[in-house]
Amino acid sequence: MSLVNALIVKITQLMPKSFVRIFAGKYIAGEELQDAVNLVLNLNSKGILATIDVLGESIKNKDEAIAAKRKCLEVLEAIEMNKLKANLSIKPTQMGLAIDEDFAYQQILEIVQKAKSFNNFVRIDMEDSPYTDSTILVYKKLHEKIGHAGLALQAYLKRTINDVNQLNKLGTNYRLCKGIYIESESIAYKDRQKIRDNYLQSLKLMLKNGNYVGIATHDDYLIDKSYKMIKEMNIPTDKFEFQMLLGVKEDLAQKINSDGYKVRIYVPFGKDWYAYSTRRLKENPQIAGYVFKNIFSFGK
Ligand code: FDA
Repeated sequence: MSLVNALIVKITQLMPKSFVRIFAGKYIAGEELQDAVNLVLNLNSKGILATIDVLGESIKNKDEAIAAKRKCLEVLEAIEMNKLKANLSIKPTQMGLAIDEDFAYQQILEIVQKAKSFNNFVRIDMEDSPYTDSTILVYKKLHEKIGHAGLALQAYLKRTINDVNQLNKLGTNYRLCKGIYIESESIAYKDRQKIRDNYLQSLKLMLKNGNYVGIATHDDYLIDKSYKMIKEMNIPTDKFEFQMLLGVKEDLAQKINSDGYKVRIYVPFGKDWYAYSTRRLKENPQIAGYVFKNIFSFGK
């Protein structure tokens, strides 16, 4: 952690909640489902798609996991009712994966069944490495039983190429991201360029097999290389989309959209925004740099 980032993390934790809310607000639709609906309607009016995420990943018991599942079901209903061009993203630990794997699977299955009934789709986020195997297993079971679900993989993990080789055999709808958690050097690349190289190698393998890929990055280098790869491999536009986080590089999202490619924005909402923002800061102090920039570009 750089000294500046470490300092910003400390300062942010000492800031009044109302102040943190000002800059966290850029990355979060709001506290209520209706906030997310309004935001997505606005994105859709610009031709941009969305994936909605209910904030709050660490639950303490099954009751909390059941409450989180209900929220996800409400999101799917709201998408259907408002005819949003959006799907749902979920975090397996929020569904109880850390407490009871089978219980979490049943919860996620219920969500995906609901999504299927609306002909919609659920993206399973990938969390930190203790949950990689169990998350992949949940995805495989869903894929076999019902479909309508896709999986996120992280390019910083050394195992990812192997996972892609396995998951390609099933035909998988992927989201490929760099990965946001702090992982040990024994399992994860730390070097920026090595992560990028693994990203591109994984992407090529995913696309080569005709899978659908959500190319989730704000890195100009990766976006540029992805454009080239898509052209060289002659990949049809219905086989991929670009994905970005709400509030990050919005101009770039617009540009990709006007280049004729699908763009999907990850739209988190919920009352857990404070815990989410500060936890994210602790997990990955690099974000502190972005937050810092954001504070000083506030109002511009
Ligand atoms: P990089 O971090 O190099 O960022 C490139 C540039 O983008 C930066 O220089 C900066 O300008 C800007 N930028 C990036 N992030 C920013 C931020 N938060 N605020 C302001 N500016 C920012 N991770 C994970 O482990 N599991 C998951 O399931 C997901 N899901 C997911 C979905 C979507 C749609 C996205 C876009 C990302 C994720 N991630 C994720 C997070 C991902 O792993 C990664 O941490 C971030 O996207 C940052 O990586 P980049 O590829 O953007 O590169």
